[in-house]
Amino acid sequence: KKIALVTGGFTGESVISLKSAAVVEKNLDHDLYDIFKILVYPGNWYHETSSGEKIPVDLNDFSIDLDGSKITFDGVFNILHGSPGEDGKLAGYFDMLGIPYTTCDPITSAITMNKGYTKAIVQSIPDLYVARSFHLFKNTEERREQILHELRLPLFIKPNSGGSSIGMSKVKEPNELKEALDKAFAEDSQVLVEEFVSGREFSIGIYNAKGETTVLPATEIVSSKEFFDFEAKYSPGVTEEITPGRMSEEEIERVNRICEKIYLKLNCKGAVRVDYFLEHETGKFYFIEINTVPGQTETSLISQQVKAIGMTVKQFYTDLIEEMFV
Ligand code: DAL
Ligand code: MG
Repeated sequence: KKIALVTGGFTGESVISLKSAAVVEKNLDHDLYDIFKILVYPGNWYHETSSGEKIPVDLNDFSIDLDGSKITFDGVFNILHGSPGEDGKLAGYFDMLGIPYTTCDPITSAITMNKGYTKAIVQSIPDLYVARSFHLFKNTEERREQILHELRLPLFIKPNSGGSSIGMSKVKEPNELKEALDKAFAEDSQVLVEEFVSGREFSIGIYNAKGETTVLPATEIVSSKEFFDFEAKYSPGVTEEITPGRMSEEEIERVNRICEKIYLKLNCKGAVRVDYFLEHETGKFYFIEINTVPGQTETSLISQQVKAIGMTVKQFYTDLIEEMFV
């Protein structure tokens, strides 16, 4: 089968996507699949040959012309973080062309890319909690006063559709709020302001293959920084990551049940990753967000979790690819 490995993107996460794509390309089963890396940038979609030549993609049918022969693809391995790979735009395009892909459909991708809307949906899941928050469309003094009146400091300020903690801040003092909001609004037209949850942070992969949904062992993130920011996410050693994370049998059982519900309720496809806090005092699980195109870099959490169940990353990718043809 001919598989397009789609990477690049329109956001600051494109550099991460390139790293993920390199890891996926290296680990894919090249005996089973012919892999063509396709880079997607604004107004510039191309395949790069091994000699570095850039072949433009024909957007009418997502094909490329290699030495006079037209190549079309049986499926897409989508590893493009952020827009347009994770927010449903590419999914909609491939749906229109009838090309299967490894990730969620347009509506699920669009909703889950929006942290505020996703919280509104998952908060009805039993045993799952969400931090109190404001979903903002403007940075006005009135809204800031309301936030400081109704929420307890410290606060997390996030671009509502962001990834990799880009544009995110932790606000500990009221006078830091305006600047933090400006920073987030520079990245996004919507911003999420959330109360801090005092707990341990975890991240857990969930995927569907061979007719069943598998919840991988959670990774616990022990960060020496204020939060799991861009540097902590991608610089090996800055954060200690423990897989499987330290949870009791009861907690593992509870979180697995919650994750299956999240996956089902949001109608997910392929591999997703849910980030959550386990609150110190209460032992409650607080949903942070879901990533529908989770990172697959060498140090990424999903690869750690796949290896922890004794599976090779290669087999995992094969399962994801085969699932899109079911
Ligand atoms: N958004 C990054 C790539 C992740 O969730 O892994
Ligand atoms: Mg994320």
